[in-house]
Parts: sequence; structure tokens; C-alpha cells
Amino acid sequence: MHPHVERILLTKEEIAVVVDRLGKTITKDYADKNLLVVGVLTGGTIFAADLIRSIDLDCELDFVGVSSYGNTAQSGDLTWTKPLSLSPKGKDVLVIEDILDTGRTLSCLTAYLQEAGANSVKLCVMLDKPECRIADITADYVGHSVGNEFIVGYGLDYAQQYHNLPYIGVLKPEQYQ
Ligand code: XMP
Ligand code: MG
Repeated sequence: MHPHVERILLTKEEIAVVVDRLGKTITKDYADKNLLVVGVLTGGTIFAADLIRSIDLDCELDFVGVSSYGNTAQSGDLTWTKPLSLSPKGKDVLVIEDILDTGRTLSCLTAYLQEAGANSVKLCVMLDKPECRIADITADYVGHSVGNEFIVGYGLDYAQQYHNLPYIGVLKPEQYQ
């Protein structure tokens, strides 16, 4: 285990079970849909890469780089580092992100995708931190719920580190205080 990690929440093997469960549910739900998977950079990349391989359907894949700076759920509150490359118009968009925390980023992105003409927009997150929610948003597919702790690994970072840990763990508070 990395010396900055206090404890492991999900091992590599437990993550694989979660991904398989979500993939099977999504495969059923999107059987007759026009699926566009949109991963959110950077934290959502590893989860998105695993999850699409457990979705047994034809689908398109794109990535967006966004963060939110406003206190509202307006699409105009987004800062873009990478726009969509594919059009969401008429597509059933499934957004894949590492964690739903305050919910600001995903509620702004949902508003943007709806304004851009998506047929439907759903959210799939590996982790949900409901205690910290500010925006009025819930994820449609959740891997695992966590408390108010700083989580790293499997795409989640602190100061650009720990993205590559194969497990999901709690960062020792002395690393960020
Ligand atoms: P919200 O939901 O607050 O999430 O708009 C914004 C982004 O913050 C990141 N985030 C975390 N990253 N451990 C991390 O490594 C965490 O506990 C954590 N909470 C939020 C995440 O990338 C999300 O996209
Ligand atoms: Mg993120």
C-alpha cells in the first residue's frame, strides 16, 4: 500500500466486481438506445476505460475536460479544457466520472448536454459522496458510496498524484492539511 494512504476502500478485485455489475445493468438499460459514453477528464478516464469494456453494446466514446466555477447549475459556469469531439445531438449520453462530490461539475455538464440536444443524459460515477452535495443532483449508476474523506486512486488524484493506484483508498489527512 502507498505510504500516504490510510486505508483501502476497494481493492482491485472489488473494483472489478463493481465495474462488471454496472456494465451489466447499463447493457440492459441501453439495449435499444443510441449510446454515447462521455468520460470526464482526468479522473474519470480509468473508470471509463474499464466500464466500456463491460458494456456489451455498440457505443461511441468521447471525453470532456470540464470543471465548474459557479455556485449555480448553469451550463455557462463550466471551464473547458477539452470540448466534446462528437455531437451529443439525438444521442443517449452516459457521463462517466470518478466521484460525485458537491455535484457542481456534473450538474453544469448535464445542463450543457441537454441544451446541446442530447436525447437523454444519465450519470455513472464510481464513487458517491452524498454528505458533500450542494447541487440538486443524483447519479443514475453508483459504484460505491463514501463518507466525507479525501479519496485517491483508480483515477482520483490529490495534486495530480495517486491517479495510478490500482485500488481506491483514503488519503492520510496529514497529506493535505
Ligand atoms: P464536484 O462534484 O464537487 O466534483 O463538482 C468536482 C471534482 O472534484 C474531484 N473530487 C475529488 N477528487 N478525491 C479526489 O481525488 C475526492 O475525494 C474528490 N472529491 C471531488 C473530482 O475529480 C470531481 O470531478
Ligand atoms: Mg474529476
